[in-house]
Amino acid sequence: MDALKPHPAAANALEILKRRLNGAPIDWVLICGSGIGKGMVAEGSGLGLKIEWTLPLAELGLPAPSVAGHGQSLVYGTIGERRVVVQTGRIHPYEGHPIAVCTAALAATLACGARGLALTCAAGGLSPLLVPGELAIIRDQLNLFGPTPLSGPRFIPCGALYTPAHRERLQAIAAERGLGQGGRLREVVYAHVPGPQYETPAETEALRRLGGDVVGMSTTYEALLAAAEGASILGISVVTNVAGVVGLSHSEVQERSDAALPDLAALLGAALAGDPSAE
Ligand code: HPA
Repeated sequence: MDALKPHPAAANALEILKRRLNGAPIDWVLICGSGIGKGMVAEGSGLGLKIEWTLPLAELGLPAPSVAGHGQSLVYGTIGERRVVVQTGRIHPYEGHPIAVCTAALAATLACGARGLALTCAAGGLSPLLVPGELAIIRDQLNLFGPTPLSGPRFIPCGALYTPAHRERLQAIAAERGLGQGGRLREVVYAHVPGPQYETPAETEALRRLGGDVVGMSTTYEALLAAAEGASILGISVVTNVAGVVGLSHSEVQERSDAALPDLAALLGAALAGDPSAE
């Protein structure tokens, strides 16, 4: 069966990125969530990215992310011997764009040969074990009601969406750096909600009963696209708040993300120096 025609925004972004890369390889793509992107690529960040160029998403013909705390560019550089593209901000479906537009930059980087995807996101804690400010490794996801970037008969297996070898590597780095509880990060199920509103207490309880540990408005559909393209995947949530509480605000979410950035950047700097093939 022929592949379905890509969305024009995705096809256009791919042409422009190909020209910018001019044949240069990509090992990893890193997508940054709320409050994470700008600091991640800033001078002195623990990510340790040596920047070669920056391309605003607008120059890929894409809408700029409108959510406060999201960057608006692709940044290309090296971490050790790995070639990395950092997407400093996300375009979410709740901003009014089709899922193909939200994932167009990722689709372009995957089509240009990226072999690993690192996802970061702010998330609300559903599990009572989680404490705001904590980093958690995503081990699985619930996208039952969420958007998918896949169309046509792409019946991809999702039995191990978040690459087990990457989760082990993240735990080893956490142990070396004493992150989390005694050098171990919790591994969580990320439940997708469309947003932009936060959850009611009833929704929070429903997601908990479905098996979610954290909840957020992104991430799952990017993992699905990367899996369909054969890339390995790692995901880290910053638990920014307890989900479903009275008075929750985006500024609280951003503040917690900012505070977690040094540990998150150091964790990713070490992880992305590794091989995305992860066999
Ligand atoms: N719910 C959904 N998305 C989020 C939350 C939340 O509580 N916190 C950060 N992103």
